[in-house]
Amino acid sequence: MSSVVLKNLVKSYDSKKNVIDNINLEIKDKEFIVLVGSSGCGKSTILRMISGLEEITSGEILIDGKVVNNIHPKDRDIAFVFQSYALYPHMSVYDNIAFGLKMRKYEKAIIDTKVKEVAKALNLEDLLDRKPKQLSGGQRQRVALGRAIVRNPKVFLMDEPLSNLDANLRVQMRSEIKRLHNKLQTTFIYVTHDQTEALTMGDRIVVLDKGKIQQADTPDAIYNKPKNKFVAGFIGQMNFISVNAKDGCFEIEGQKFHKENLQDGEIEAAIRAEKMVSGDTVIKVKPEIVEMTGGERIVYFKLNGCECTARVPLDYPAGESFELKISINDMYFFNKESGEIIGYEKA
Ligand SMILES: Nc1ncnc2c1ncn2[C@@H]1O[C@H](COP(=O)(O)OP(=O)(O)OP(=O)(O)O)[C@@H](O)[C@H]1O
Ligand SMILES: [Mg+2]
Repeated sequence: MSSVVLKNLVKSYDSKKNVIDNINLEIKDKEFIVLVGSSGCGKSTILRMISGLEEITSGEILIDGKVVNNIHPKDRDIAFVFQSYALYPHMSVYDNIAFGLKMRKYEKAIIDTKVKEVAKALNLEDLLDRKPKQLSGGQRQRVALGRAIVRNPKVFLMDEPLSNLDANLRVQMRSEIKRLHNKLQTTFIYVTHDQTEALTMGDRIVVLDKGKIQQADTPDAIYNKPKNKFVAGFIGQMNFISVNAKDGCFEIEGQKFHKENLQDGEIEAAIRAEKMVSGDTVIKVKPEIVEMTGGERIVYFKLNGCECTARVPLDYPAGESFELKISINDMYFFNKESGEIIGYEKA
C-alpha cells in the first residue's frame, strides 16, 4: 500500500502569497498521477513538499494513512527523479545506481544483484562502467530512473524527467516509464507541462493553476468534460468564441444556433480545433494562414472577431474561402466572468 493524501495543503515562501493554496488530493495506491500546469503554478513545490525537501506552511501530507509532516525525507521511502538527472559525474553508471543502497549499508552482494537487475530492466547492462558524460541524454535519464527504482520506494516522484530529451526520445521514454510503472506497481506522481505526456501517461490528471487544483480527473474526462475555461484551454486546442445569447439563441458569423438553458448575455462558446469540419452547420470564412503539418493542415481564421484554429484533413478544401462545418453538439459554453462551464446537456 502506498497512497498519498494531501489535506488542505498550503505553501507560502514569503508569508504573503500562497503559491500552493489549499490543495486537497487523494492519490491511490499504484496510481499514475500527472500534475500539469503552466510554469510557476506550483508543481515542483508540491513534489518537494511530498518528498520532505520543502517544509509545508500548513495542512497535512499522509503516506499510507500516516501523517509525514515531521518525518525526515530520508525516512519517507520516496524516490525523486529530477529534470536535470543529477547523476554523480565522477561515478560510473554502476556506482550511481548503487549509491543509495551503499548509503543505506546494504551488503555488497545484495547491492550487486539489485544493480544488475535494474540495469537489465532499463537496458543499461553494457554501460555500467561508463561515466555519465559518456552517455546520451536518454541513457542518462535511464540511469536516473535506475537509481530511483533500485531502492523499491513506496512512491516515485518525477519532476519533468523528459524535458531535456529531444522529441523522438521523449516519446520513447514516455512508454518506457509507463511500462516501468506497470511492472513496479508503485504509486507514481509525475510532473509535466506537456499536455500530450499528461494525456498519454496519466491514470488521472491534476490540472493546476496559480496553486489551486482546477480539475482532477481521468484523461478522458479532462479532455471531454472540462470543468472550466482554464482546463478546456490548457488541454488540447480549443477555440473560444464570444457570443451573445438571447432566449437560448446565438449567432456565429451570422449563422444561428440554438441551445437550451443558456443564460442571456455575453458567454463564451468553445469548440475544439479538430471538430471544425465535421458538423451540420456551414459557415464560410476567409483563412488568414494555412499551415501544412504533414498529416493535416492547420487553418487560422476569425469567428465573431475571435482568433480560431481548425485542424483539417489534407483532402479538405481550404483555399481562398473555407467552409467550416460545426455542430452545436461539439460546443462547450463558459461563463464569461467566472470561466465555469455552463451545463453539459446536449442541445
Ligand atoms: N525557494 C523559493 N522561494 C521563493 N519562491 C519560490 C521558491 N521556489 C518556488 N517559488 C515560487 O513558487 C511558485 C511555484 O514554483 P514551482 O517551482 O513550484 O512552479 P512549477 O509549477 O514547478 O513551475 P515550472 O513549470 O516552471 O517548473 C513560483 O511563483 C515560484 O517563483
Ligand atoms: Mg517545476
